[in-house]
Amino acid sequence: MSQAATPLNYIQVHQLDRVGVLQLHRPEALNALNPDLMKELVTSLERFDTDEQIGCMVLTGGETVFAAGADIKQMAGASAIEMMAANDLAVWDRIRLLKKPVIAAINGYALGGGCEVAMMCDLIIAGESARFGQPEINIGVIPGAGGTQRLTRVAGKAKAMELILTGRPFKAQEALDMGLINKIVPDSQTIAEAMALAKIIAEKPAMAVQLAKKAILKAFETPLEDGLDYERHLFYLLFASADQKEGMRAFQEKRAAVWKNA
Ligand code: CAA
Repeated sequence: MSQAATPLNYIQVHQLDRVGVLQLHRPEALNALNPDLMKELVTSLERFDTDEQIGCMVLTGGETVFAAGADIKQMAGASAIEMMAANDLAVWDRIRLLKKPVIAAINGYALGGGCEVAMMCDLIIAGESARFGQPEINIGVIPGAGGTQRLTRVAGKAKAMELILTGRPFKAQEALDMGLINKIVPDSQTIAEAMALAKIIAEKPAMAVQLAKKAILKAFETPLEDGLDYERHLFYLLFASADQKEGMRAFQEKRAAVWKNA
């Protein structure tokens, strides 16, 4: 399905080989994630997710900011009932249902909802300027798009308590040390590095990639025994795919596999 027909105000979208690229583009507000931007983003991610020509996605922001969080000005005057009735964060939640991997490429601020969107992605490449953080405490609230859950699962209780209760921003090196991100590169290389990684993944057999992602994410939700059982079922299921037959035949014939992504 083509992305071209969709008018987009806050994000830019293009495709390079089998990689779908999405760039947050609301520079006047440091890419603050208002509901319209998030609808555009999630809809575009879902389009790539159902496009057979796409194997992996890269999500990036601007040169100095990935995203400074949810739009504070837009929600400042809302009542609790209005927030619950609108439930804008339900749209954000659809990111975790994407089947294909998403790589975040981050330069500059990834704060609040920006950090949470990054953590919804499957891999994160950060430029040296990247500044992560959950500063919601400083404006009288808490993370609302998964920060307390995803940061805690990655960094552990002590670190998550410190970062969320103080709102202290942290640099790429600290994010790397706690296992939040995959790699730090010079800012000028962030997108290129993410694209190179995405290209490698996009060239792998699509069904195996998607089921591997599914199984890894399951590890965050299940006891080990259930997770192992789930993994084994997905492993057996892949023997229904043409690419399993091709991959194992190609190995024995000592040639490169030609994937059908089926
Ligand atoms: N929402 C709305 N507008 C924002 C914004 C946000 N999250 N972040 C920045 N902006 C706006 C500013 O208001 C400013 O607009 P004006 O020019 O009209 O005044 C413009 O973007 C530039 O921002 P600054 O002048 O503040 O830029 P700076 O370089 O001095 O500071 C910053 C950068 C440290 C990122 C600072 O903008 C900041 O602290 N932003 C807010 C970060 C934050 O608290 N994020 C959490 C939001 S709540 C959330 O995300 C909830 C959730 O879990 C879903």
